[in-house]
Amino acid sequence: MAPGITFHDHKPAGLSLRRAVIDGLSAEPKAIPPKFFYDQRGSALFSTLCQQPEYYPPEIEQKMLSELSGEIARLAGGGRMVFEPGAGALTKIRLLLEPLQPAAYVPMDISGEYLRTAASDLARAFPWLPVHATCVDFTHSLPIPDPAPAGPRLAFFPGSSIGNFDPQAAVGFLQLVARQLGPKGLLLIGVDTKKDPRVLHAAYNDRAGITAAFNLNLLRRMRDELGLECDPDQFEHRAFYNPGPGRIEMHLVSRRSQTLRMNGYRFEFSEGESVHTENSYKYTPQEFISLAADAGLELQEYWLGEGSLFALYLLRNG
Ligand code: AVJ
Repeated sequence: MAPGITFHDHKPAGLSLRRAVIDGLSAEPKAIPPKFFYDQRGSALFSTLCQQPEYYPPEIEQKMLSELSGEIARLAGGGRMVFEPGAGALTKIRLLLEPLQPAAYVPMDISGEYLRTAASDLARAFPWLPVHATCVDFTHSLPIPDPAPAGPRLAFFPGSSIGNFDPQAAVGFLQLVARQLGPKGLLLIGVDTKKDPRVLHAAYNDRAGITAAFNLNLLRRMRDELGLECDPDQFEHRAFYNPGPGRIEMHLVSRRSQTLRMNGYRFEFSEGESVHTENSYKYTPQEFISLAADAGLELQEYWLGEGSLFALYLLRNG
């Protein structure tokens, strides 16, 4: 391992995917939570997806972060302990590290091996930065290493990952973040905006089919890790904007009626029946600022990116 890095494993034992599949494929309607997209292959597919021209959030947010990094650093001050739930490939934090000069960085991700590699690469590129990589399901907890690195805290939650929670659960998650922030704590969060549904539709139905492969990877995982007898080719990717709740929905749709077996279990699918795999809620600034306030987070500043396609918020605990 690179110098300046520690690794912490808080991942629950491997039974959680199995539990989610048994419960989720027996439920009506069928559903599996999106956190199960992210095994090694899923994390790599997501990283590729972030380079597709139709999937606009990464490019816009990264441009915003590089342009605003000086201003954000002035508002936050140096010497903070930065933690990042769902840190993935650790691409975005790189844009902030030099100006922000954190005292320590705690990337958290459910995809342990992927995180280990990404964190080692980061630690090599920023040898002055203590990195405490933490494998964890952030929907359960946000464990800070013990002894906790000193300094006021800043949570970094880019990419609109908050959109995976329904609004009520999003408030609950932001409350958990706020607890870990403590006094003088700040949250820098990227949130996708409501916009022309055609732009959203294209973003979740990219022409290269990376979103489809990312969605279908869930079936591969269930087959390879749990022995679910299924052919991913017998399902298709579907993503659409649902204007009522204001969210993109992703589904895996059965191309025919079929029964999937897994040890003693049988899961029946009719033709066209779907497994709901993800919600991605979109918020106007007014909606999101009010949601954050419900979690006790007060707006410090916010910025809109190109064409108001994406928003960054700096929020203060208090
Ligand atoms: C990682 C949850 C922010 O909702 O846009 C991208 C995941 N799914 N394309 C999103 C995703 C399909 C992404 N988040």
